[in-house]
Amino acid sequence: MEEKAISVRKLYEMFASGENFSKLNEVVAQGWVRTNRNNGKVGFIVLHDGTVFKSVQIVYTEGESFLANSKIKTGASIRVHGHIALTPGMQQPFEIQAKTIEVLGDVADDYPLQKKQSSFEFLREQAYLRPRTNTFDAVFRVRSVLAMAIHTFFQENGFVYVHTPEITGNDAEGAGSVFSVCTERNGKPDETDFYGRKASLTVSGQLHVEAFALAFKDVYTFGPTFRAEKSNTPRHASEFWMIEPEMAFADLEDDMEVIESVIKYCIRYVLDKCPDEMQFFNKWIDKGLLEKLNNVLANPFKKMEYTEAIKLLQDAVKGGHKFENNKIEWGMDLQSEHERYLTEQIVKGPLFLINYPKEIKAFYMRENDDGKTVAACDCLVPGEGEIVGGSQREERYEILKAKMDKLGNTEGLEWYLNLRKYGGCKHAGFGIGFDRLLMYITGINNIRDTEPYPRTSSNLKY
Ligand code: 4AD
Ligand code: MG
Repeated sequence: MEEKAISVRKLYEMFASGENFSKLNEVVAQGWVRTNRNNGKVGFIVLHDGTVFKSVQIVYTEGESFLANSKIKTGASIRVHGHIALTPGMQQPFEIQAKTIEVLGDVADDYPLQKKQSSFEFLREQAYLRPRTNTFDAVFRVRSVLAMAIHTFFQENGFVYVHTPEITGNDAEGAGSVFSVCTERNGKPDETDFYGRKASLTVSGQLHVEAFALAFKDVYTFGPTFRAEKSNTPRHASEFWMIEPEMAFADLEDDMEVIESVIKYCIRYVLDKCPDEMQFFNKWIDKGLLEKLNNVLANPFKKMEYTEAIKLLQDAVKGGHKFENNKIEWGMDLQSEHERYLTEQIVKGPLFLINYPKEIKAFYMRENDDGKTVAACDCLVPGEGEIVGGSQREERYEILKAKMDKLGNTEGLEWYLNLRKYGGCKHAGFGIGFDRLLMYITGINNIRDTEPYPRTSSNLKY
């Protein structure tokens, strides 16, 4: 039987713990060649096996196989038999001195990922190969670790994970940008054939999860979400992941406390579990990244009323600042440029903007006593704008019903209204854009570079 290969991750773990590493002698490693160079006498292969951000160096020397080894190409998958040698003082702490190198899968000459650095745009076109690059190795491992951070935070705090449906009959946000789900009979789409009514992909699991909050107190969803707005920006995808916690007996202040805690927890978790990846981002993607994140950890998030924000934006315009939309007035929906001005220029860090005009926010948000605003909070961050949207929910039956009747969306949502009749209570929740949180933590500035196969309008190559 073939000898079992040891992962590069395991090698570094054993080296770090000291135990048993010195007893390691002969090893088999396998992975993909990042680079292969030689000086005529000694050759060096940087081998990456994907189990850890680091690579391991393979050294081969003169002998009958030298010529063959020197021809192994970038991208080839190989299996190396050799022994470990410590290399104190070198860039890497140890290397594998190869006895034999077997090519498992050769690379055709048209392999798109050659040695030199490729642009993000180019790599997007190579979505199936880009996980083999340094940058995307880091991005997608951090994405995986970040998902674990989310689950760990909520599970440790007693939240129940609820799988709300992907197919739904409601447009929770009322934005009207849904993807329809229908069957095809005889080559023709039929919208009501299957469910007897129109169905769509979910834009938010919130309404469904509210019912669970009124049973379990603290709950969360975490799954794919779909929106058909054709916003061609670096922050919008038509398929993205969202985390939607919902808490019974909680108000807007409680909501913001949890938002701030979970964001800080995620940053700490990723810094702790992915130090090499984070150093890489800090060096190559965003030079101030670690300093920024440490600042976020060290300071409380600022809070600002929407009304105050409008005043500050008006002052900015008076002072000569030019926004693309310079007509700042109370009641307007803030664009990303306005959000960014507030978080980048005014508070220079994360900012909760609260108590928005009711007309520009979703129907389920709780109306404040002023009759004009709702208890909403958006969490804005420099470089991106909104990464979290949350609110206290309207728990008063009559007020909610009047609103829904006015919008004409009561039909099919009677059950949602009923929650206010059957033991309803004060409750609040929020939605974190998972991909946007990943952008914030890694410094990657386009959502297309945080998703394995990004879905944006006119883009379905893979
Ligand atoms: O602000 P949104 O629309 O809020 C909701 O959907 C609420 N139901 C959440 C809740 O209270 N349970 O979306 C929440 C977050 C945004 O702040 C943003 O980070 C992200 O989801 N998001 C998107 N991310 C990527 N692409 C898009 N098209 C996004 N739309 C929203
Ligand atoms: Mg929002």
